[in-house]
Amino acid sequence: MLGKIEKINSLEELQALYAATFGKNGTMTARLRDMKNLDAAARAELNEQNAALRTAFKTRQTALEYAALMSKLADEKQDATLDAAPENRGTLHPLTQALAEVATILESFGYTMHTGPEVEDDWHNFTALNTPAHHPARDMQDTFFLPNGNVLRTQTSAIQIRTMETAGAPVKIFGVGATYRKEMDATHGPMFGQIEGLYIDRDVTMADLIGDVRAFLERFFERDDIELRIRPSYFPFTDPSIEIDMKFRGGRWLEIMGAGMVHPNVLRNCGVDPEQYQGFAFGFGWDRLAMLKYGLPDLRELYGNDVRWLRRYGF
Ligand code: PHE
Repeated sequence: MLGKIEKINSLEELQALYAATFGKNGTMTARLRDMKNLDAAARAELNEQNAALRTAFKTRQTALEYAALMSKLADEKQDATLDAAPENRGTLHPLTQALAEVATILESFGYTMHTGPEVEDDWHNFTALNTPAHHPARDMQDTFFLPNGNVLRTQTSAIQIRTMETAGAPVKIFGVGATYRKEMDATHGPMFGQIEGLYIDRDVTMADLIGDVRAFLERFFERDDIELRIRPSYFPFTDPSIEIDMKFRGGRWLEIMGAGMVHPNVLRNCGVDPEQYQGFAFGFGWDRLAMLKYGLPDLRELYGNDVRWLRRYGF
């Protein structure tokens, strides 16, 4: 009987044999019931047999259950090729993305990136840019003045001056940085990002300016059918000065940038001879370009650092 139990290979069979042994009509049950008729020695032997059988059943049951569990685990083993729950990956902020795109495009045109201080002196922000004290054009920008007469840079045009003062001409650069003006609505904040292109050489013309601006906008907006409108404008540091509008969906014209041929006085102020050199400058808010490209309605939100707002637009 003990040998038989050891050879059983299924739990069902084991249970059947257990029932036939210890069940209501089981063989062992019957013998135990008759125990009172046995002498002491036979009784002791029966008790031993009973205990040995129960142990044998229990041992075999444990072994069979363990084997069943093992084969179940082998069948159900985890599929390591299944994708885990996606991680919440960060992305670059839209302004950072837009700046990287602008920089890549302008660098491919041969412009190199320059920066400058956000707290500027009067010379670099105004005077050298052909905007001397009391010049009415100073009122074009609502300037934040510091007690010592310095200003929070109102335009990246200051970077033109700093670069030409040290590098002279020819020069082909773009200045990048934060600029500050006292204004606040959906498309203007007190701080905004400006990018300024400057190309000075011996025979740079207005046609080169418009060609570079058009090529830049085509690459940035990934369109080859852009329509531009060139309007005469006024900036103290360019002459002639223009404003460039671009046509967007629904036939809407939006002002994209200011530009023009660099004023001879500006070149002179930087030690560059305007009889030898001439060229153009253009400036635009790169946060505005990011808004237009990514379809963002409110410029101020770009500086809000609200991750829920960013996610809504897929960033
Ligand atoms: N600095 C001008 C502005 O802030 C933009 C500009 C740059 C215009 C370069 C002409 C040339 O409005």
